[in-house]
Amino acid sequence: MLYLGVDLGTSSVKVLLVDETGAVRKTASRTYPLEFPQPGWSQQNPADWWNAVVQCVPELLEGEDKAQVAGLSVGGQMHGLVVLDENDQVIRPAILWNDGRTGRETEELNADFGKEKLLSLVGNIAFAGFTAPKLLWMRRNEPELFQKIKKIMLPKDYLVYRLTGVHSCDYSDASGMLLLDVANRRWSPELLSYCSVTEEQMPKLFESYESVGTVLPEIAAQLGLPEGVVVAAGAGDNAAAAVGTGTVGNGCCNVSLGTSGTVFISSDDFRLPPEGNLHAFAHADGAYHLMGCILSAASAYGWWTKEILKATSDNDEQNPITDEDLGRNPVFFLPYLMGERSPHNDPAARGAFLGMSMDTTRYQMTQAILEGVAFAIRDSVEIARSLGIEITESGLCGGGAKSPLWRKIMANVLNMEMQVPVQEEGAGYGGAILAMVAAGAYGSVREACEKLRTERRIYKPDPAIAARYEKRYQVFKSLYPTLKAAYPTLAVKE
Ligand code: XUL
Repeated sequence: MLYLGVDLGTSSVKVLLVDETGAVRKTASRTYPLEFPQPGWSQQNPADWWNAVVQCVPELLEGEDKAQVAGLSVGGQMHGLVVLDENDQVIRPAILWNDGRTGRETEELNADFGKEKLLSLVGNIAFAGFTAPKLLWMRRNEPELFQKIKKIMLPKDYLVYRLTGVHSCDYSDASGMLLLDVANRRWSPELLSYCSVTEEQMPKLFESYESVGTVLPEIAAQLGLPEGVVVAAGAGDNAAAAVGTGTVGNGCCNVSLGTSGTVFISSDDFRLPPEGNLHAFAHADGAYHLMGCILSAASAYGWWTKEILKATSDNDEQNPITDEDLGRNPVFFLPYLMGERSPHNDPAARGAFLGMSMDTTRYQMTQAILEGVAFAIRDSVEIARSLGIEITESGLCGGGAKSPLWRKIMANVLNMEMQVPVQEEGAGYGGAILAMVAAGAYGSVREACEKLRTERRIYKPDPAIAARYEKRYQVFKSLYPTLKAAYPTLAVKE
C-alpha cells in the first residue's frame, strides 16, 4: 500500500509518497508567501496551504497505482492561530508560531495565573508564540472578528478539515496552544474561560495516529485519490519529525535545524520542568516530550546568505571555513531575528553581530551565523542537562542538517555525537508513519519506528575543537544578558 505524508512548513508544503516498507517513492513541494506586516509579526493565508496541497498530490500520483493509497497524515507548523466563522470560512490570516505581537498578552497570562499555576494547569508557561496569547491579542485588538469565531484550530488541522470535513486536533500540537491540560490530555476549562472561548469552539482531540475520518468523496475526486483514504490526526511538525527519525521512548534526543531550531527529548511519562523553561508536550506516539525552540535557525542562515549576501552557492560560502577556524571565530551572532522563545522568552530581542574588526571576513560572519544557532540550541540542551537528563547523542534533521560544516559545528558545540539519518524527509515522513498506523499497517507508532528505522551517519565531536567551543559558548552565554535592556529601545517609534 501507499501513504501520503504532508509536511506543512513555514515556507512550503512538502508531500511524500511512501510505501509500507518506508521507501520514499516521490516528493512534491510548493512554496507560499510569509507576510511580515510589522517587525516581529508573521502571518500566512491558510488558503495558500490548501492550494499547495491540491497542486502537490495529483503531481505525486501521476503514473502511480492510485488505488494503492491507503492513508494520509500531516505534520504541521505548530501554535499558529487559524479561526473559522459559522460557515467554516477563515476569518483572518493565520498568526504564526514565530509571531511576536503578543508580548503584552504573554506577560498578562504569566502574571495573572502565576507561572506555577499555569504549570499545574497546562504543563507550560506562556510564550509569545503560543496560541492562547494570540486569542487574547485578537480579543483586544480585533473584537469584532473575535466575536465571529466559531472554530479555533492549528495550521495542520485546517488541512485535515478541508480533507475530511472534521474539526480535529491531536495532543502533540494541542499541547502548544496553552489551552490543553497536557498531563491529562483534555482542554483546560480555566484557560479556555480566561481566553473567553468555550469547548464547543475547540476541535475534537485525537491521538496523532488515530483516524479522524476518510477523505471526502469530492476532495478525493479533486486530488485523484481513491475513496476511503484514511486521514490520521497528524502531529506538530517537531513530534512528526521525531517519529520520522525514530525519536521515541525514554530519553531519546533529536535536534532539528529548520526555519526554527528545536531540541526534542522523548519520554514515557509526563515530566514538568520546574520553571517551565522547556516545553512539556504530548508526543505523537501517545507518550510525552520536552522541547526547547529557537525561532530562527536555518532561516537565520537563509536571511544572511540570500537576503544580505545574495549568495548563489552554499558551498562557496562554507568551503573556505576549515577545522582550524572552528572555535576560533572572534565574531558572534545572536540569532534572535524574530525575538526568541527558548530560553529567553523575549519577543523584543533582535539579531546582533558582535566582535567585528577591519579584518573580519564574510566567511567569519557566515561561520558566526552557524555557530550562533548552535550556541542558542545549546542553551536548551543545558537546561535539559540541568534537570538531570543525560544527553550524550542526538539525531539531527531539517534543512540545516544537510550542511556537513553545520553538522560538525553542532557536534562540537553540543559536544555530543550527532546522528544524521541517511534518508531524511522531516515531518512529512513522520506524517506518513502516522498514516500507516491509522490505516492498520502497523500496530503502534513505536513498532513502525522500529521496523522503519533508517541508517544514520555519525558525526563525533573532536576533543580539541569541542574544548575551544566550550570557551566560546561561555562568552556567547554572557551576551544576551548584556544586551537585554537595550532591545526594547531599538524599535523605531515615529
Ligand atoms: C515549536 C515551534 C516551531 C514550529 C515550526 O514549538 O514553534 O518549531 O513548529 O514549524
